Amino acid sequence: MTTPYSNEAIAALVEPRRYHRRLFTDPGLFDLEMERIFGRAWVYVAHESQLAKPGDYVTTRIGTQPVIAVRDKDGEAIHVLHNRCGHKGATVVERPCGNARKFRCQYHGWVFNPDGSLFAQPHPIGYRDCGFDRADPRYGMPRVARQAEYRGFIFASLSEDGPDFDAFIQEIRSSFDNMIDRSPVGRLELVGQGFRYLKRSNWKAFMDNLDDAMHPMVTHQSVGDACKDYLRDVDLAQDPELNRYVEIINPFNSGYDFYDDMGVTACPYGNGWTGGASSIHSEYDEVPGYRALLREAHGRERADEILSTNRHNTIVYPSMTLKGPIQNIRIVRPLSVDRSIIEAYSFRPVGAPDEVFRRNVIYSNLVNSPASMVGTDDAEMYERLQHGLRTEAQEWIDTSRYFGREEEIRPGVRVAPGTSDLSFRNMYQTWKDYMTGVL
Ligand code: FES
Ligand SMILES: [Fe+2]
Repeated sequence: MTTPYSNEAIAALVEPRRYHRRLFTDPGLFDLEMERIFGRAWVYVAHESQLAKPGDYVTTRIGTQPVIAVRDKDGEAIHVLHNRCGHKGATVVERPCGNARKFRCQYHGWVFNPDGSLFAQPHPIGYRDCGFDRADPRYGMPRVARQAEYRGFIFASLSEDGPDFDAFIQEIRSSFDNMIDRSPVGRLELVGQGFRYLKRSNWKAFMDNLDDAMHPMVTHQSVGDACKDYLRDVDLAQDPELNRYVEIINPFNSGYDFYDDMGVTACPYGNGWTGGASSIHSEYDEVPGYRALLREAHGRERADEILSTNRHNTIVYPSMTLKGPIQNIRIVRPLSVDRSIIEAYSFRPVGAPDEVFRRNVIYSNLVNSPASMVGTDDAEMYERLQHGLRTEAQEWIDTSRYFGREEEIRPGVRVAPGTSDLSFRNMYQTWKDYMTGVL
């Protein structure tokens, strides 16, 4: 029998050139997404620089499930555990990050080791001779089914049999490498606790927007116009400090041809990126001495390749995006069908001139922060999507821009003009694959 949530019914919601509005409005589909996408896919949890010392921990969520990543007391192992007490199930750790030798649940005081095993309980006499076994893993904080790391970026999957990590990361390793190797020693350090803010929209509104090259000149027009107006009255040559801000905002003035030339690349598992040789990051002033440092560290050819690769957003489906040129990541944590949390973090490339990190922070403040001039425009549009898609008279969302114009450059890897809807088609096809058990 076909029900609204049978595989056949779900598969019918995504066609090659369009998807159905239920993907943004149906709470039942949201619950299934948490089980079949966020319950199986590789979701970013933390960066190893946040877990530098034994006992360092970070709490977050995979889908709607609370987890904690912690460095064990040996200083080596990192465990990703369900943040769930082995007694009655309360979350054990509420702080976003910190350091602890043991974790004590605030409800009845059960205490857990960093590997999640139960260490002790108060008044243990009550458990004597009643068949209770403290070593039984069911009384601990369970480990997530799988965890994996790529050069300091820690991911986890709640399912034993979801996609293989190496296969998942394969085609987007180059984006991570480009970001990480912008450090002469090949190491990034996450600085501060980042931004975390609520969006009144479905998680896919954020993911869609990342490689949407048809919106900046419209959604961000007021920012671009303000920047142009401002520049009429100033002499940038006299004010190099001001240029640090202008060089970030001005590319939002770019036209359609610029974004088409930038290109979009779609990879397996919904991953992909826009930009390459050019993007909104490609015209930044070179930081004095930086290229020489990178050439010394990586060799001339590799250093020049790193600095001339300017991908815009790399999508790590379903939850993450990274920007190599400015060492920035953002994560979407779904809350409900129409609520999401976005997190944004800036990294310091270890060993690079301070100015490189400073630019990353300026970028994040100007573009990603809750009080930014750019990200707030996007947030408004996510909310309007969420509102407009209540319309029942029009059920489908079109994704046909440059349909049929993509070119396969390697098995599973396709490229198209930057304003193509290729990235949407790729993500929604992947959505369908996860939701119907193909992935
Ligand atoms: S719920 Fe944690 S000790 Fe009881
Ligand atoms: Fe935007």
